[in-house]
Amino acid sequence: MRGKNIIIGICGGIAAYKTPQLVRLLKKRGANVKIALTEGGSRFVSELALATVSGEQVYRTIFPPTDVRNTDYTSHISLGEWADALVIAPATAHTLAKLCAGLCDDMLTTCFITLRPGKPVLIFPSMDGQMYLSPSVQRNIKTLSSQGCTLFSPDNGELASGQCGFGRMPEPESILTSLDDAFLAMAQHSPLSGKSVVITAGPTREKIDGVRFISNYSSGKMGFAIARAAAKRGASVTLITGPVHLETPPGIERLDVESAAEMYATAQGFFQNCNLFISAAAVSDYRPAAPQEGKMKKEAEEFELALVKNPDILAEFGAQKCTGQLAIGFALETQSGLDNARKKLVSKNLDLIAFNFFDHKTAGFDVDTNILTLIQRNGITTELPQLTKEDAAGKLLDAIEELLPKNRQ
Ligand code: C5P
Repeated sequence: MRGKNIIIGICGGIAAYKTPQLVRLLKKRGANVKIALTEGGSRFVSELALATVSGEQVYRTIFPPTDVRNTDYTSHISLGEWADALVIAPATAHTLAKLCAGLCDDMLTTCFITLRPGKPVLIFPSMDGQMYLSPSVQRNIKTLSSQGCTLFSPDNGELASGQCGFGRMPEPESILTSLDDAFLAMAQHSPLSGKSVVITAGPTREKIDGVRFISNYSSGKMGFAIARAAAKRGASVTLITGPVHLETPPGIERLDVESAAEMYATAQGFFQNCNLFISAAAVSDYRPAAPQEGKMKKEAEEFELALVKNPDILAEFGAQKCTGQLAIGFALETQSGLDNARKKLVSKNLDLIAFNFFDHKTAGFDVDTNILTLIQRNGITTELPQLTKEDAAGKLLDAIEELLPKNRQ
């Protein structure tokens, strides 16, 4: 659950009063939780209580106030994109009908539509027993199931009407277990599940003297996004990173290095036993031939800095890899992009290369989006549009999954 982004959709049923406890449990397990509360839901549970336990604003309508500065006018889209799962608990008969009809008149129903394909949707209908058994509710439940949502039967017990029967929302602990199961099933479904993936990320620093170095503008964001996405698909991820200001994605092993030589030495230890090597680091091609220990003095008007070539980590892995191991690289090019990327794919013996369009604002170093073209060994080339680095990482892993040898751990 750690690091997972979860939207809890809360509708207007008495069980809504239990949802702050559900949020608490999820937060305790390390999940990021945002809440979409319907108008009816707000009658049963306070927005303030939910905002307090989640530590986030509670989303209600899709129309933000226009008199407030810095409002996110597209949160109805970004929320759905952000989520790894949508849990609707309690789900009322009314909201089930709206979901079936594709209505988008509040944040909850809109998130349902903007959620990324393949993300789990867990729906916990909770209402009076007779309402639950009514033909229209049963028809809507079937429709939503056929669309890939997981519908959970309500628990049996005392209902708000005082009668006994089916209709109670399962307890928050039980909802948590169902969500765990959904993520597990998803991870096991991925061909990357159980695979050992080594990823390099970030820049390297090549020492000139005790206080100066040669480096580049790489932020490490792309490599970290790939690591996060691979771990979510159940891979065992080792991330070897140069100096960056990024949090370690949950559930991965991170090794910090500084120079290309250190990155190479660290990566070498993993070459033999990994299934996949993804080189997203911006490794310095050269390093000063004779770095000095102290601080160089500013004496000469001019001086020459002799540089020597660094090992090409990816090319080394490409040369050493055995049958079944895959090598994936990036090519950040400013001229003759695709042609150069294709040449690198062959010269470094890669299985796939991601040509990285370079533009200061939308793609490349230190921005949150990227524009990639994926080129496979067999020539198949897929141009991706401008995507967030998270989404670009997802697309890259989709392509890699297609290349993985079947049934090999
Ligand atoms: O040849 P070029 O540096 O453009 O190749 C880029 C790819 O090779 C990237 O995937 C990068 O991480 C990797 N690389 C490497 N070691 C180097 C230089 C580049 O692993 N010394």
